[in-house]
Amino acid sequence: MNAPNPQTPPQTAPETVPETVPDAAPPARLLTQPDWQYMVQEVFDLYRTTPAGGSTPIRRHMRQVRETLSKMLQSNPEIAFGQPEQKPVCAHLGRALDNGMGNGRTTSAVRALTKIIPALTWLYGYRKVPKSLAGRYAFADIVGPLGPVMCENLTIGVVLFAPRTVYPQHAHDGITESYICLSGAISENNAGVYVPGSLILNQPGHEHRITTQDREPALLLYAWAGPPDKLRAQEMKFSRPRKPRVMP
Ligand SMILES: [Fe+2]
Repeated sequence: MNAPNPQTPPQTAPETVPETVPDAAPPARLLTQPDWQYMVQEVFDLYRTTPAGGSTPIRRHMRQVRETLSKMLQSNPEIAFGQPEQKPVCAHLGRALDNGMGNGRTTSAVRALTKIIPALTWLYGYRKVPKSLAGRYAFADIVGPLGPVMCENLTIGVVLFAPRTVYPQHAHDGITESYICLSGAISENNAGVYVPGSLILNQPGHEHRITTQDREPALLLYAWAGPPDKLRAQEMKFSRPRKPRVMP
C-alpha cells in the first residue's frame, strides 16, 4: 500500500449538481393545434350555412351554437387530450368518411375530421351497453365540459352507426340536441330521412330513436346546448320501450 503523498490534495466528495426538474409542458391550447382549430371552424360554418327551414327554434339553436363557439375560440381554451380509444364500430369509419366526401357543405367538415380522428376517444356513454348495440355505434366528443376542447356550456362530437342499426329511444334531460348528418342516411322516429347536410333538432325531453340504412354506415355531428351541470351529468339512458312519438 502506498503511503499518502503529502503533495496530493485531500480528496473531496464530488460536487453534487442539483437535479433540475424540467418545467411541465404547457397545456395544449386550441389556437396552437391547427387541426383542432380548423375542425371547430368547420363546425361553426356548418351552424352558419345549414338551412334552418324557416324554423325559429332551429335558427335560435344554431345561433346559440355559433355564439358559444365564437366565444370559445376567443378564449383559446385548453385541449385536454384523452387516451385515444376505438370501439368495434370504428371498423366502419373509413367507409363513412369516404361516403362523407363530395357532399357539398359537409365535405369540408368531414375532411377536417379525418385530421383529428387518431386522437379521438370513442365511447358508448352507457353503463350497460346491450350486446346488440356494442358493435354498432360509438361517439366521440370534440368540444365539451369534459374535453378534449374545454367548453362549459356546449358539447360537440360525432356519433358513428353501423349499417342496419336501431339506436333505441332516448331523451336528454335539460339539453337541446341537434344532429347534422355528415355521411349515410338516417331516419328519426320513422318520420323522415336525413342525408348529409340535414339538421335535426331534439328539444329537451323529446324522445327519439334513430335507424340507419341497410348497407352503409352513418356519421352524425351532434351539438348539445344546456347548462354546465346538465352537460356534465348527462347520463345516457334508454327509455322504456314505448311507441316513439312522431316528430311534428
Ligand atoms: Fe339523442
